[in-house]
Amino acid sequence: MKLFLTTTFLIFFTTLLPLNANGAKCHVDDESSLLGFKSSIKSDPSSMLKSWISGTDCCTWAGVGCIFDNKRVSSLSLSGDLENPKSYLSGTISPSLSKLQYLDGLYLQNLQNISGPFPDSLFKIPNLQFIYIENNKLSGQIPENIGKMTKLGALSLEGNRFTGTIPSSISELTQLTQLKLGNNFLTGTIPELIKNLKNLTFLSLKGNQLSGNIPDFFSSFTNLRILELSNNKFSGKIPPSISSLFSNLMYLELGHNSLSGKIPDFLGKFKALDTLDLSKNQFSGTVPKSFANLTKIFNLDLSDNFLVDPFPLMNVKGIESLDLSRNMFHLKEIPKWVTSSPIIFSLKLANCGIKMKLDDWKPLETYFYDFIDLSGNEISGSVVGLLNKTEYLVEFLGSENLLKFDLESLRFGNRLKSLDLSHNLVFGKVTKSVVGIQKLNVSYNHLCGEIPKNSFDASVFVGNNCLCGPPLYPCKA
Ligand SMILES: *[C@@H]1O[C@H](CO)[C@@H](O)[C@H](O)[C@H]1NC(C)=O
Ligand SMILES: *[C@@H]1O[C@H](CO)[C@@H](O)[C@H](O)[C@H]1NC(C)=O
Ligand SMILES: *[C@@H]1O[C@H](CO)[C@@H](O)[C@H](O)[C@H]1NC(C)=O
Ligand SMILES: *[C@@H]1O[C@H](CO)[C@@H](O)[C@H](O)[C@H]1NC(C)=O
Ligand SMILES: *[C@@H]1O[C@H](CO)[C@@H](O)[C@H](O)[C@H]1NC(C)=O
Repeated sequence: MKLFLTTTFLIFFTTLLPLNANGAKCHVDDESSLLGFKSSIKSDPSSMLKSWISGTDCCTWAGVGCIFDNKRVSSLSLSGDLENPKSYLSGTISPSLSKLQYLDGLYLQNLQNISGPFPDSLFKIPNLQFIYIENNKLSGQIPENIGKMTKLGALSLEGNRFTGTIPSSISELTQLTQLKLGNNFLTGTIPELIKNLKNLTFLSLKGNQLSGNIPDFFSSFTNLRILELSNNKFSGKIPPSISSLFSNLMYLELGHNSLSGKIPDFLGKFKALDTLDLSKNQFSGTVPKSFANLTKIFNLDLSDNFLVDPFPLMNVKGIESLDLSRNMFHLKEIPKWVTSSPIIFSLKLANCGIKMKLDDWKPLETYFYDFIDLSGNEISGSVVGLLNKTEYLVEFLGSENLLKFDLESLRFGNRLKSLDLSHNLVFGKVTKSVVGIQKLNVSYNHLCGEIPKNSFDASVFVGNNCLCGPPLYPCKA
């Protein structure tokens, strides 16, 4: 077997060798096309295109991929790093790209400052299958005739500044498995004809200004795994045909719209559901009992609706992030299925009618907590024990409860950036470590004594028994 493999490799390399020995270069059309692209880039502070030098083999240039046999450019893939402020390209997409006749994938991602309209030159590339122009500043309308690019398997224009409506010709792109138009300024309704895109696995229209009802056309999309329609202006109910997505759907994001009605029972059948976001809508009634069967759910956000008791007993193995804040629940306690989760990192139960003593809460795991919001409940006792065990906690919001403990005994991990204990019964002194937090609020408690040097506004400390020193009144000598 080993000998056989070695021989195969030998043959492979000997056939390859002559090409390299001749110093074969990419096709002249491809080279001039790419140099044209480079010349319409006005600023490249991180030198992404520094290897793009005329006369060298363009197949070796950063981001350029070629077909092995004929050395024609088949992919162009440039990606900025959103964390690095210098990692961007300014300029437009040159029409010279149309000369890349063998291109099958164009990936211009996170370049931040590429502007201009949708590049019409792409219509002249016969076999283009993948377009990912994401997180740039392209603007204008998505071309009316986009449907002519019938070979497209994926189209993402996410994170640009496109305006106008979604062209209905998009429904002619029947090979599409991914359609991502999120985070633009698109208006109007979702074209009914999108139902023709039967191969879609990923549909994202989030973060636009789309309105009207969500069409009841989901029985066409049995392969859909990700559906993101959050942050728009959709109204009406969750369409019944969403029930046909029960076997594959993993992400259902409908948050921040104006949807109403009840949460449908059928969602409990979505065995693969990982993330369900229905936050900031006008859903009413109870959460269906069938949610007990959502055993794989990791992220559940039902915050800011009008949901009422009783909340179903869930059977999740481990929830990572839960937000039930600001509904009409009276949970009384932090639910047991939350307490027993080994992997939770974000727990938000603001205004959930919880009436327990925090010291009685014995979560299985506190190590991974990043965010805890328990504001607006009737939680008594102390947060000292909890915060002592949460090394990674970034934010603890506990305002408007009955928390009663000595602030001087509070110890917390060095990642804590935000602490709100306003409107409680906290006593003792404000320590140096407490004023070291970026965002703080200890107003309306029973604190006393001199406040250590700080740069907060008085509203952070007002309403206590006898706190003094800047930004409040000077202490008496
Ligand atoms: C982004 O592009 C615009 C238009 O091309 C230009 O005026 C602006 O200076 C660019 N911004 C940066 C940070 O390069
Ligand atoms: C689209 O779906 C059809 C039928 O399910 C299948 O034959 C075809 O290969 C799919 N196309 C792609 C690009 O996945
Ligand atoms: C959970 O699923 C099982 C099997 O499909 C079903 O019999 C049961 O009624 C479901 N439970 C709830 C609470 O809907
Ligand atoms: C904080 O944790 C440390 C070590 O885990 C422990 O020794 C200490 O008693 C705890 N303090 C409080 C107030 O719970
Ligand atoms: C602190 O909390 C009080 C009471 O809720 C509020 O009025 C004040 O604006 C808060 N201050 C800051 C800086 O958030």
